[in-house]
Amino acid sequence: MAKYVDLHAHYLPALDDGATDRRMSLQMVRAVASLGFSDLYATPHQRAGMFMPARVAIDAAFQTISEDVEAAGVGAKLGLGAENFWDDVLHKRLGDHTVPGYGGSKSFLFEVNPQLMPPGLENELFQLRVAGYLPVMAHPERYVAVQRDFTLAERLGRHAVMMVDLGALDGAHGKQEMKTARRLVLEGLAPAAASDIHRPEDQTSVAAGMAWIRKQLGDGALDEMLAENPRRMLTGELPDVPLPR
Ligand SMILES: [Fe+2]
Repeated sequence: MAKYVDLHAHYLPALDDGATDRRMSLQMVRAVASLGFSDLYATPHQRAGMFMPARVAIDAAFQTISEDVEAAGVGAKLGLGAENFWDDVLHKRLGDHTVPGYGGSKSFLFEVNPQLMPPGLENELFQLRVAGYLPVMAHPERYVAVQRDFTLAERLGRHAVMMVDLGALDGAHGKQEMKTARRLVLEGLAPAAASDIHRPEDQTSVAAGMAWIRKQLGDGALDEMLAENPRRMLTGELPDVPLPR
C-alpha cells in the first residue's frame, strides 16, 4: 500500500524547470505514485531573477492538476509547498510571515547556491527554529561546502532537516553528489529523502535511490526516511538524528 510522502517535486506545469504541460504533470504524478508514494507535495521554485511564479499561477496550476489526478483515478493526495531559494525574497517573506511552507505550515523547503554557503546560515537556522519554523534543506549533497566538510551537515542538521534527493543516491546528479548523498544517509545525517522529480523519466533514478536505501539499511530505514519522518516534518517536528548506523 502506498505510504510514502514526497516533500520535493516539480510536477506542476509551466511554472519552473519542471513539468512543461498538463500531460507531463499527470505522467510525473503517476510515476511517483507508482513507487509507493501516497502524498505528493509540489514544490515549485521561488528564486528571485530566475523562477518566481506568482501565487495565483501556482494555485491555478495546483487546482488544475489536482482535478486531472482525481479524474484519472490516481490514488494520490497532492499538497503544495515551494522550493525557496535563500535570497532577499525569502528573507522578506520570513519577516512578513508569508513564506510558502508545506500546506501553509511553518515547515518550508529551501536551497542555497551550490557554490556559496551563506555565512551565518547555522545561526539563522537556529533563530528560525526558535521562531517556530522547521527549515528543510533541499539536496545538501549538492553544496560544495557540505561535500568538503561533513561536520557542516551535522551542525546544520541540528536546526534544519537535511533532505537528500533520491536520484542523487544513484548518481543522477554527478559523482561527488552521489558520494556525498550516500555518506549523509549512511552516517544518519539525512533523516529524509525526496524525489525532486523534474521529468517523468526521473522515475528510474528515484526508484534506484530507494532500492539503494533498502539494500543498505533495510525497509525500516526506507519507511523512516520516506514516511515517518516526512509526516513528522509536516507537523513542524525536527526528526531525531539517528545514531550512526
Ligand atoms: Fe527542486
